[in-house]
Amino acid sequence: MIIAVDGPTASGKGTIAKALAAHFGLPHLDTGLLYRAVGRQCFLDGGNPDDGADALAACAFPDSLLGDPELRSEDTGGLASRVSVHPAVRQALYERQRSFATQPGGAVLDGRDIGTVIAPEAEVKLFVIASVPARAERRYREMQQQGRAITLEDIAADLEERDRRDATRAAAPLLAAEDAVVLDTSLLNREEAVARAIALVELKRDKVQ
Ligand code: C5P
Repeated sequence: MIIAVDGPTASGKGTIAKALAAHFGLPHLDTGLLYRAVGRQCFLDGGNPDDGADALAACAFPDSLLGDPELRSEDTGGLASRVSVHPAVRQALYERQRSFATQPGGAVLDGRDIGTVIAPEAEVKLFVIASVPARAERRYREMQQQGRAITLEDIAADLEERDRRDATRAAAPLLAAEDAVVLDTSLLNREEAVARAIALVELKRDKVQ
């Protein structure tokens, strides 16, 4: 079974995808991390993330970069959102994501275009959303825990900017697949959101079988 979990940043999709993978015993891939690694590598190379050639060159990042804690920062998230605009970057990361999705037994992938581009055949597609204030508040708490100095206002502005870029880009924009189930986590805590997601997957799985 392939489970695609898409949605904007800080919607809860990562938490949900991880919990679904643990619950159903499936491997999980956070595809945002790949784009973050490209953004970070581009920065380390002194490249321009808005330049297609510089961004493409950064796709050859070493696997060890995936463990860099700096990948989780807001700055790297912004760089990821800029490099992910280039079709050549999306193409370069496609095969890695596609082979993960199609491995025997299935997988859970979270990102922006899993249900639309990477695994349109996924048996279950969730599109996780939440209001900007709810997402900003979550991200703010996360950043505080990590000891990163950033204001709530800056986070909300950054989220809106990234939403706008992700939703309006020509290549694989952030878009719910026609057959995706929308899960709004604005008013749900972590446990409630996960329980709702598990119930939705079970419902879909039972229908397919
Ligand atoms: O999900 P996360 O915030 O880690 O993703 C960082 C950025 O990577 C997103 O803002 C988006 O621009 C890009 N991304 C993407 N396609 C994916 C996953 C992430 O374009 N499948």
